[in-house]
Amino acid sequence: MAWQFGRGYSSCPMSAAETSDNSPQGKTDFGKTDFGGTDFGFRRVSEEEKAPLVRAVFDSVAARYDLMNDLMSGGIHRLWKAEMVAWLNPRPGQRLLDVAGGTGDIARRALPRLAPDAGGRIVVCDANWQMVETGRARALDDGILRGIEWLCGDAEQLPFADRSFDLYTIAFGLRNVTRIERALAEARRVLKPGGRFLCLEFTPAVTPLLQPLYDLYSFRVLPLLGQIVTGDREAYTYLVGSIRRFPSQSALSGLIEAAGLGRARFRNLTGGIAALHSAWRL
Ligand SMILES: C[S@@+](CC[C@H](N)C(=O)[O-])C[C@H]1O[C@@H](n2cnc3c(N)ncnc32)[C@H](O)[C@@H]1O
Repeated sequence: MAWQFGRGYSSCPMSAAETSDNSPQGKTDFGKTDFGGTDFGFRRVSEEEKAPLVRAVFDSVAARYDLMNDLMSGGIHRLWKAEMVAWLNPRPGQRLLDVAGGTGDIARRALPRLAPDAGGRIVVCDANWQMVETGRARALDDGILRGIEWLCGDAEQLPFADRSFDLYTIAFGLRNVTRIERALAEARRVLKPGGRFLCLEFTPAVTPLLQPLYDLYSFRVLPLLGQIVTGDREAYTYLVGSIRRFPSQSALSGLIEAAGLGRARFRNLTGGIAALHSAWRL
């Protein structure tokens, strides 16, 4: 099958000049430690424990995940995702893998630009069947019958051959994997040479002016909202912890390059609350 390569950038109205990194953390102060443990939110757990714990979080919130995203971000996550797809710049006939794709927000936005009639295809791959099922049902309800394949799989061990995709996306997923380095190595492996990598993720620190408000929101409002909407306060306490322990923008760029992807760069979104990282398999 002949797939095309994706190249090109779109403008970034929200954040073009924002490429600074507000995190006080050092470049290696995250995730795995010398003791072999890893972070699950603010807790330290063994590597074996993390994936089942993360799965339980998304099992618990899957049904109300989309509603909660809108409520907790005031709808801004939609702008970030639109920006991700704009920067990705998918072309008709390309093949996109959306890892940790959850309920398919990225896939649904990218699909029209990939043009299923021209052979464009998306695979949404997520570790959690409940999330995938919710996404698949939502797509069917909206009349999306072709162009997207939904499957369960682990970002650290993708069930795909080497060099099978033109585009790889991961939105708010990298934070949840146990070994970020392995997920990035897998991204490189499944991308074709010339293929594009894009990651949308929260950042551990925002601009200093926003920080006090952001802390209040993160530690007080968000867990309460999670409790009211999903009945699971812990899931949203985990969310806050996983954000604070995630690598800073420049540290993540370093990991991306260490995984063998080239030309890594990032753009901050909305005062650095989230960031987009772009790289290529050269
Ligand atoms: C916050 S949701 C993001 C969903 C979607 N990408 C979005 O932006 O709305 C994180 C997703 O990562 C998935 N996930 C967690 N660990 C994973 C792993 N190791 N491999 C693949 N998916 C994983 C979860 O099941 C969940 O659906």
